[in-house]
Amino acid sequence: MKVTLRRLEADDSAMIYAWRTSREVAQWMVSDGPIPREDHAKWFAESLIDGPTRVRIVSCGDVDCGVLSWTAESNLTFSFGIYVVRSLTPVKRVGSAALFILLRHLFEEANAQVVRAEVLVENGRAIKTYESLGFSRELGLMRRVLRQVGMSDIMEMRICRNTWENYSPIVERELSTRGLVDERGE
Ligand SMILES: CC(C)(COP(=O)(O)OP(=O)(O)OC[C@H]1O[C@@H](n2cnc3c(N)ncnc32)[C@H](O)[C@@H]1OP(=O)(O)O)[C@@H](O)C(=O)NCCC(=O)NCCS
Repeated sequence: MKVTLRRLEADDSAMIYAWRTSREVAQWMVSDGPIPREDHAKWFAESLIDGPTRVRIVSCGDVDCGVLSWTAESNLTFSFGIYVVRSLTPVKRVGSAALFILLRHLFEEANAQVVRAEVLVENGRAIKTYESLGFSRELGLMRRVLRQVGMSDIMEMRICRNTWENYSPIVERELSTRGLVDERGE
């Protein structure tokens, strides 16, 4: 089943609110506090339009199952956030495929030099996922934040263009073997 990214549609708001406030997703977000409906409505209205931040629904086959967003921090540096609602799809590596599609776009069409993300140090699944795509841990950029659950350590992970160029054919092969992305040239 192919993974695709699609633009938000006006009636996606309630679905995304339910996902974002589910424990399954919220526990891994840096801001894990309650999300007032009016804040969500404002975020959603802004997210319908592409600006420095772009938001897409992650779909696997015809099942919508997550959200991927990315921000141009400069001409050369982008950051992203992602979640896949595991209970909506049994297919593994959907999030990895969505990120692969994003990295391909950023490095090959948007001239990115660096793509970065922040991750809770206890989020082993996300760290493993990002490393499988070629990201490295930036241990010098750890920071500590106060969350609802107490103090948490946040780590930055990065991938640069050089690593992408070396690593992406291997990742592409793995994800296309799983049927999640098209291999280039096909
Ligand atoms: C991070 C995320 C996007 C990755 O999605 P995905 O590519 O579909 O990844 P999967 O869920 O299939 O799991 C990825 C790998 O982590 C492994 N894994 C699962 N739990 C793990 C854990 N606690 N520690 C280490 N690895 C773990 C899986 O076995 C899998 O490895 P494999 O492919 O070699 O079998 C998704 O797990 C997610 O949305 N998580 C909740 C929200 C979140 O953490 N977002 C990121 C915030 S920085």
